[in-house]
Amino acid sequence: PPAYYKNVIVSKPDPAVALITLNRPNALNALNAAHFDDISSALREADEDPTIGAMVITGSDKAFAAGADIKEMKDKTFAEAYMSNFLANWEVIAKLRKPVIAAVSGYALGGGLELALQADILLAAPSAKLGQPEINLGVIPGGGGTQRLARLIGKSRTMEMVLTGRIIDAEEAERWGLVNKVVREESGVVDAAIKLAREVASKSRVAVVAGKEAVNAAFELSLSEGLRFERRLFHSLFATEDQKEGMTAFVEKRKPKWTHS
Ligand code: HXC
Repeated sequence: PPAYYKNVIVSKPDPAVALITLNRPNALNALNAAHFDDISSALREADEDPTIGAMVITGSDKAFAAGADIKEMKDKTFAEAYMSNFLANWEVIAKLRKPVIAAVSGYALGGGLELALQADILLAAPSAKLGQPEINLGVIPGGGGTQRLARLIGKSRTMEMVLTGRIIDAEEAERWGLVNKVVREESGVVDAAIKLAREVASKSRVAVVAGKEAVNAAFELSLSEGLRFERRLFHSLFATEDQKEGMTAFVEKRKPKWTHS
């Protein structure tokens, strides 16, 4: 694994899975600029690596990430925030083409929750505590929280979280559909995320990327445009070897051998 990241640990728990662990333990993984750069670079590197099929992002048992780094933000002026386009690079993660699974233990607050919300699948440990406490700092979420939460859990629950800063636990998050699942097994949430990533990585990579692109289009396009986009992507997959292989393998009652082409 590359030694050049100071604030994340990159490993390969499976030949086709990259695990990116946020590692600023003395600040509960608060996201300062250097930390965020490491996270986005590590994810982008995995995204571009043809041997990788899916990524897992996680923090520590105590904190996925406790938000943007308040100490770093505290003295920023409007002009500095505006002229440096503070947080503009935040969208890097949403632009990754391969699936990202977030494994959340402990605090996922503010920018930490917004980071998790950019993942494609969210798994939570029973210890997970999720919230947008920015209102208590005199600001609002700035990394997509108001928009992504509203689409995910609806307006009134989002309003409650954003306007009161209330922190919800894993069970409530599961009930609200904010996380796919609370992982209660002894082996833990990271293990479950790696298993899921390994499963996704075992499919045709072309089809997986197309599936992610099509689902994401649902959040950007009208229904008729989205359906058209999906159908065109579906058509285009008939140009792949993996489509021929997948359907032939079904007919021949054997397992497909994907070539990702
Ligand atoms: C900077 C942070 C931090 C943060 C924790 N720390 N969160 N430093 N920015 N967001 C630091 C603490 O200052 C402390 O360092 C160390 O981490 C341990 O934290 P404690 O507070 O001592 O731990 P604990 O008492 O267990 O409380 C945990 C906590 C609390 C409830 C999570 O730390 C907390 O409320 N943190 C802030 C959460 C928050 O408001 N997040 C939103 C940030 S705004 P020292 O060295 O002092 O001991 C945001 C905007 C998003 O995210 C914009 C888009 C990206």
